[in-house]
Amino acid sequence: MKGVKRGRFKLGVITSAKYLAPHLLGQFGRQHPGIDFALKVTNRERLLERLANYENDLYIIGQPPQEIEVEAYPFIPNPLVVMASRDHPLAGVANVPLERLLEEPFILREPGSGTRDAMMRLFDSKGLKPPVGRMELASNEAIKLAIAPRLGISVLSLHSLALESTSGPITILDVQGFPIERHWYLAHPKGRKPSLVARAFLDFVEQEGRQIAINLDRELAKLRRLRDFQFEAVRTGAASP
Ligand code: PGA
Repeated sequence: MKGVKRGRFKLGVITSAKYLAPHLLGQFGRQHPGIDFALKVTNRERLLERLANYENDLYIIGQPPQEIEVEAYPFIPNPLVVMASRDHPLAGVANVPLERLLEEPFILREPGSGTRDAMMRLFDSKGLKPPVGRMELASNEAIKLAIAPRLGISVLSLHSLALESTSGPITILDVQGFPIERHWYLAHPKGRKPSLVARAFLDFVEQEGRQIAINLDRELAKLRRLRDFQFEAVRTGAASP
């Protein structure tokens, strides 16, 4: 794989994985300075179309599809959590029942989003009707901007707080059934040999990407501890950090 000196690597990633992909590409790019990148970020439905049409070399998806035969390798956890404004009345409340969320205005990802599907499946599995969206947005960043002024709450990947953590205007609610445990997978169509560059990237993720993933996960664990600390602070009446 050391022989891969030049080329173009086309990576297709699902919307919520855009926080993770630059970490991986940055490191890989330093080892392979002659390789250029094309990064396509889109939702699950569109990404599966791209996969079926062989439009990218590799894909990062949230759940291997049933409808297309793929080789898929899980490589990092992707917990989905309930996010709300820091001053939301449920912030710091422990063990909020899932049905209580139905009283809240929801900001939903667009149809075709894997995050949205996973959330709907959770409500369905508990025999609850699905939350109705007060607003629908196709961007995690736009959703966070709408959560902050209390337009509503939302379910998003914990990775989407990677930059600001919970020191920003958004907090994570402690809701029964959450986090929804998902994983990121690297995938390519079954039976289609990955290009040399794609093979190099797969090997890279296997060898070093795991470490990047572990570091990222450590950051996310800190974030979870901070969240637990916030709950504790609210419960005991201490000021939240
Ligand atoms: P999405 O998918 O970015 O389309 O919501 C994420 C996922 O499938 O976990």
